[in-house]
Amino acid sequence: MILTLLLFAAFSLLGCNNDDSGYTPLIPPVPPGEGELNLPPLDPQLVQEGQQIFRFDTFGDETFWTDVLQMNQVIETAVSPATALNVGLKVDAEALPAAVVEAIQNGEVDLDDPQTTLALLQLNAVVGVQGQVSTNTDGTLKLDRMGVTCALCHSTVDDSFAPGIGSRLDGWPNRDLDPGLIISLSPTLDQMTKDIYTSWGPGIYDPRFNNDGLNNPVVIPPAYGLYGLPKAIFTGDGDVEHEPVGPVAYWNRYVAVTQMHGHGYFEDSRLNLVVDHREGDDLVTEKLPALQAYQFSISAPAPPADSFDATAALSGKALFSGKGQCATCHSGPLFTDVIDGGKLHPQSASVALDKDYVNRSATKQWRVTPLKGIWQHPPYFHDGSAATLADVVARYNQERNLALTAAERADLTEYLKSL
Ligand code: HEC
Ligand code: HEC
Repeated sequence: MILTLLLFAAFSLLGCNNDDSGYTPLIPPVPPGEGELNLPPLDPQLVQEGQQIFRFDTFGDETFWTDVLQMNQVIETAVSPATALNVGLKVDAEALPAAVVEAIQNGEVDLDDPQTTLALLQLNAVVGVQGQVSTNTDGTLKLDRMGVTCALCHSTVDDSFAPGIGSRLDGWPNRDLDPGLIISLSPTLDQMTKDIYTSWGPGIYDPRFNNDGLNNPVVIPPAYGLYGLPKAIFTGDGDVEHEPVGPVAYWNRYVAVTQMHGHGYFEDSRLNLVVDHREGDDLVTEKLPALQAYQFSISAPAPPADSFDATAALSGKALFSGKGQCATCHSGPLFTDVIDGGKLHPQSASVALDKDYVNRSATKQWRVTPLKGIWQHPPYFHDGSAATLADVVARYNQERNLALTAAERADLTEYLKSL
């Protein structure tokens, strides 16, 4: 009731209802970022199951990461904790027993010894990596099998213990992770393929390269703030028509099967793609409802206190809907018009430097990116071509001839930081 009143108050303030015809729309338009979608509550049990899957389930992808890429041998012989942290892997401090924490604090743990990495894997403390560790007759550790989970790319830690070591932050993209560099360490790849993988850099991955052979990677996006969007990913490929479980589940199946090489099946005639990694089993399909529920349960993080100038942000808010014309696309409660019947936009709608990625997708169009929590994950746009939110504003100002003054650009930037 209060919300309804507020909505009508906002509506009146906007002066939208002094229509001579006497017609009053049933759902008044709300300013961007306001109003609610009235989504059904999530089943807590399902969310809980989904968390375990998101963090720890490999969907049987050891068949690829161990049997094909032989990454277990790479880690065992060459990946010390120092190296692992260098390529952006994170350590879950909560999985470390007090004695280990103390030993690290006292400098008694050799962070340059791959054996320490194996010990961390044995403790299930490496975010997004699952290892089966056994002991050799001489007492040293051996990594029998390893696989990866969703958390590898879509979780990070809060660095509360040390850089790269802390409590898990699920849904936060790991923009330090260099997935291409990690894969390139496999002894089974030819030099040309390795060169492509090493060209991507931290926070970047191409989730289509192994399917279409094109090399045009994108930033790892957040897996939070997605509940209520009828289409998933930059190009809106995921929707309920192509995966009955839901839009995010469409993409989860895609990644689990075609990228992680989990045991499952993916098919999309729009992409002319069928990938079948079932080995007499399907370790993906039945997990999709819980996995999606968990992601839907993660809200976008609020900006840290004092991280933006509130007065400037208020002026920026007016510019967002006014002179900046941002709200024509970034509209509604989640700052995207995709909630308007699944609306997508043509190739020219993106002001990113790369425009080609869209052509590799199922829709060949862009979804307007939701903006809540945007402060958290620079760089911006699918290609990471804007390093900061100020760069985003400058890009729009130039590409769309908005003629924003320097002061207006600064205000708009403060507003984006506040979302
Ligand atoms: C190797 C890194 C990597 C792994 C592992 C990975 N993803 Fe992603 N994920 C990406 C990239 C890159 C994209 C962007 C794809 C695009 O938009 O075209 C993405 C997109 C997404 C999105 C889309 C968000 C949106 O805006 O709609 C979600 C949700 C997601 N991933 C969840 C998952 C889940 C769940 C798993 C495990 C099944 C997973 N990812 C595994 C790299 C990864
Ligand atoms: C014509 C529709 C449209 C308009 C107008 C528009 N945007 Fe966007 N916006 C998009 C699309 C589409 C994307 C995704 C582009 C990409 O990643 O290549 C996007 C992406 C963004 C991103 C990056 C999100 C991320 O996660 O990296 C920000 C920030 C943003 N827009 C802010 C703005 C601001 C500020 C304005 C007004 C100055 C604005 N947008 C105007 C369609 C629009």
